[in-house]
Amino acid sequence: MHKKVFIKTFGCQMNEYDSNRIYDAVKSIGYNKTENQDDADCYILNTCHIRNKAKDKVYHEIGRVKKLYKDKKKPIMVVAGCVAQAENTEMLNREKYIDLVIGPQSYQKINNLLKSFEEENKVEETEFDSVSKFRYFDNIKNNNTNVSSFLTIQEGCDKFCHFCVVPYTRGPEYSRPFKSIIDEAERLIKNGSKEITFLGQNVNAYSHIEGSREYRLSDLINTLSKYNEISRIRYTTSHPRDMTDDLIECYKNSKKLMPFVHLPIQSGSDRILKMMNRKHTVNYYLNIYEKLIKINSDIKFSSDFIIGYPGETENDFKETLNLVNKIKFINSFSFIYSPRPGTKAAELEITDKDKLKSRLITIQDKLFSNQIELNKSLEGKTLEVLVENKLENQNKFFGRNKFLNSVIFDGNESHIGKLIKVNIEKSNQNSLFGKVIDEMKAA
Ligand code: SAH
Ligand code: SF4
Ligand code: F3S
Repeated sequence: MHKKVFIKTFGCQMNEYDSNRIYDAVKSIGYNKTENQDDADCYILNTCHIRNKAKDKVYHEIGRVKKLYKDKKKPIMVVAGCVAQAENTEMLNREKYIDLVIGPQSYQKINNLLKSFEEENKVEETEFDSVSKFRYFDNIKNNNTNVSSFLTIQEGCDKFCHFCVVPYTRGPEYSRPFKSIIDEAERLIKNGSKEITFLGQNVNAYSHIEGSREYRLSDLINTLSKYNEISRIRYTTSHPRDMTDDLIECYKNSKKLMPFVHLPIQSGSDRILKMMNRKHTVNYYLNIYEKLIKINSDIKFSSDFIIGYPGETENDFKETLNLVNKIKFINSFSFIYSPRPGTKAAELEITDKDKLKSRLITIQDKLFSNQIELNKSLEGKTLEVLVENKLENQNKFFGRNKFLNSVIFDGNESHIGKLIKVNIEKSNQNSLFGKVIDEMKAA
């Protein structure tokens, strides 16, 4: 009899990728993926530690699972992801319902841990071993069949921005071998992928050296571009310091690399960037921006902002607003600074929350109005859309344009996986709505 496994995923795309790979791994010991969270033999929480109350959220989730299974057999309860890494044995001690705690760099051991738990041992595994992890997964087929797939090429971070937990939860930077990545991409193509998004916490720091040759993200983009089945290539998240000229060149040469760059800046004030240990200035960022739009004026940008880093004054905040006025980001993330245990900034005094809330509202008004304006400007236009899936419980289909905007339209099953033309009739802040004009090409 097959056992069932359910994974609830929080956090970034890398966690989403990992959850899919965990499904692929546990299959070989008899666990099949289920979409029903209240009917699993093994329940995995893949957690995120990036902002406040991450730990509390996990315990809250476990409370929910306990209720779901009140009258049923208790599932094996696994906490994976970045909170698992940060808290490790502490979690097993605090919450008896948890059976296994496993950090992101230890997923190669998940099958052994599950088997050993079935023999009655509670375990915690939070070693950093990216090399073994990726070697192990190289031998496990990626069964993802999405039109648009994620592919992790790099993991971890050596930059140590003073606010950030990633270097502690994901460990040091590691780049997978070039060939393993291309092999996995080929597998995804066989499964039907038309779009691949390369992932890494510092994806553009990707560097794999073999003999005298260094492979960079630009090499991956150029190689993947040659596959006829692939119509679109993206990557995320990049750091301004690693936006090298070879990568910028790709925007000139590759028709498949989408003209949308997510490039987090965090603040528009050099003083704050320095305090954050970001290793770049506002001018450095603007310089990259200018290089990119010079090479391809079609490129649109998005960014991440932290509001109220300790010591941020009204003047620093105004500088961030100035930057947002200079670059029309079309889609950005902005959050109030949240102190993370173990980071350098955790020792600094935080600013009054009420003040910061009003700063957050001011910047979000600006960012959201850019977004609405761009979407409005697309009304009446015909866009190229890669169709991903049918929307649940609706007779509508979902795809994205080149800038990653969601496009919702009346279509049919045969459109899935194809690039089609959609005429946009309406829009709101988050989505574009339209109707199909014709199929551009059978991808
Ligand atoms: N590697 C990327 C970011 C990864 S974390 C980069 O260098 O930009 C994703 C985003 O979470 C960050 O860009 C930042 O805006 C936000 N973030 C990280 N730590 C945070 C904290 N302590 N408080 C608030 N936001 C934070
Ligand atoms: Fe975190 Fe900075 Fe590394 Fe990005 S570059 S993951 S923000 S430490
Ligand atoms: Fe969160 Fe870990 Fe990703 S902290 S953002 S899940 S790297």
